[in-house]
Amino acid sequence: MNALVEIQHLRETLRRHEHLYYVLDQPEIDDAEYDALMRRLLALEEKNPALVTPDSPTQRVGGKPREGFAKVSHSARMLSLDNALNEGELRAFDERVRDLLRGASFRYVAELKLDGLSLAVQYQLGQFRRAVTRGDGMVGEDVTENARTIRSIPLLIQGTSGDLEVRGETLLNRRAFERLNEERDRQELPRFANPRNAAAGSLRVLEPAVTASRRLDFYAYLLLVNGSPVFDSHWESLDELERMGFRVNRHRRLCQDLDELFAFCAEWDAHRDELPYEIDGVVVKVDSTAQQLALGYTAKAPRWAIAFKYAPKRAVTVVEDISAQVGRTGALTPVAHLRPVVVSGVTVSRATLHNEDEIARMGLAIGDTVIIERSGDVIPKVLRVEAKGTGRREFRMPSLCPVCGGAVVRAEGEAASRCINTNCPARLKESILHFASRGVMNIDGVGEVLVEQLVEKGLVRSVADLYDLTAEQVAALDRMAEKSAANVIQNIDASRKAPLPRLLAALGIRFVGARTAVLLAEQFGSIGAIMAADVETLQQAEEVGPKVALSVREFFAEPANRELVERLRAAGLTFTHEVPVRRREGALKGMTFVLTGTLPTLSREVAAERIESAGGKVGASVSRKTRFVVAGEDAGSKLEKARALGVEVIGEEQLLELLR
Ligand code: IVH
Repeated sequence: MNALVEIQHLRETLRRHEHLYYVLDQPEIDDAEYDALMRRLLALEEKNPALVTPDSPTQRVGGKPREGFAKVSHSARMLSLDNALNEGELRAFDERVRDLLRGASFRYVAELKLDGLSLAVQYQLGQFRRAVTRGDGMVGEDVTENARTIRSIPLLIQGTSGDLEVRGETLLNRRAFERLNEERDRQELPRFANPRNAAAGSLRVLEPAVTASRRLDFYAYLLLVNGSPVFDSHWESLDELERMGFRVNRHRRLCQDLDELFAFCAEWDAHRDELPYEIDGVVVKVDSTAQQLALGYTAKAPRWAIAFKYAPKRAVTVVEDISAQVGRTGALTPVAHLRPVVVSGVTVSRATLHNEDEIARMGLAIGDTVIIERSGDVIPKVLRVEAKGTGRREFRMPSLCPVCGGAVVRAEGEAASRCINTNCPARLKESILHFASRGVMNIDGVGEVLVEQLVEKGLVRSVADLYDLTAEQVAALDRMAEKSAANVIQNIDASRKAPLPRLLAALGIRFVGARTAVLLAEQFGSIGAIMAADVETLQQAEEVGPKVALSVREFFAEPANRELVERLRAAGLTFTHEVPVRRREGALKGMTFVLTGTLPTLSREVAAERIESAGGKVGASVSRKTRFVVAGEDAGSKLEKARALGVEVIGEEQLLELLR
């Protein structure tokens, strides 16, 4: 196959898989296969630099950092939307539309209002050319190189002509946001306050490689060809965007009247926390393009659309008290006790204050009136002080632990004060709750009420004691029926089979969350190996830097923790981890291969490149040190030599197996 044909074929294949993965969420191949295809394309393009085109999937990786962003004028103004803050205002909008359309029948399209930032993406002859932020609506910033790294923005749209502009929302989903903040914790960088800020920060960094690592999403909601809509209806244009390969939010509805609109709004208000990304309302658009044209624009916004905003998840209330709550690491977290207030349907009486510095930064004292915010199902937080209270009282972190009376110490350079008593019952309770929690050891039934009693009654002094509990002991506790006690024991029992990464995360080692636990387990394969590794060796695991490594080291250096691990081992928990060969870094490390003959599908260069990128070496001649000879058709003297020396001979299929 000539290089150009192979390159084109690889690009098409990669584009198809990107679309399946990033737009449709239906991958057909795994990451390793995708990476292998990408590497092959990269290698071919490196050898044939003249064949590199800007729409090649290889161009997404993130180019050179820039000095700043150029300002560019928008082709057509990028307007904002007027808001309807309640049903009455949405009704008023509907009446206005009705009036202006003089009684003609019309329909609305209801879409979720994604809470990110808008972006205009421009194409020429189907090729991705430029991406511009909204800016002031007239002039935005050219963020082309950063947008190029967003996989849900196609670099090539087949079968289109003319100048095309797609507008949509760039956002970071909740998972990517959490991961980003975890990563920032590890690097001791300040956390992003919400996904929207994180998305803005990720799109407007000067290094495209940083944008690439952040996993932004793009949802298209407007299509313009040569500056205007081309379809008769907005609904059709959304379908067309989807056909072009864009991600279009599937939660959209064609509504015949106001009642249907209200129903859609109410439905998503109730379920918004279940979405993988944040929304702040519903965007309502008149469907017909001709009617949109007739309705026109005000100076600020279209008359044919409106944003129905959900009630802010904020409320004003009074901080009646502040207490310190002891977490599983012994850290004391100040918690505000609030005058109960309803925030988007939920009564809130507590909010977290993170640490003393945060209280000082806000200038908060007991008795102050504050604004609180609730997002998702996390504990609400205090945003800021709205008014100082009369007779206000400053909060002081206690010098003794409110639970066990042990000393509280704030280490230099740390924001948190900690109870230093490792046997503090509060720490124990929290660590058991963490151990059993969903996504960690997943022990259903081991919640607050049960743990409280288990600790109080001295039945559990360490998480290892969970595995010695009997159904009779549990059944004897308050609010425990025999059946539920048996279930709890069964669930505890089943958790012995939880894979090693979950057990590692369950131990509560600082900075070792779910992801780091997987990487450690994959690198070392067993708890024993992790315990034996020094700080340097630990850093061989992906994403593990000195801080995490030191924390792991310190954890296992502590005799009490080693003892805990031994008891868990005796209880039969899972201590080893089978790493799929393909995911093991350097799966072929230390192995020398010799290639001979013509392989059925891989060229010699590609085979060599893949062996080397998996950590293996490719030798020119066969010796006793050769681990495998890979033989294809018409293999000659090297094959004979391999046989003479007793070196294992494999074919392409087995090589691919090793590389998987
Ligand atoms: S349409 C002229 N549709 O909300 C029409 N906007 O408050 C312009 N937004 O600037 C926008 N989801 O950033 C539209 N489905 C959606 C949207 C959406 C979020 C954002 C967009 C816009 C802002 C207006």
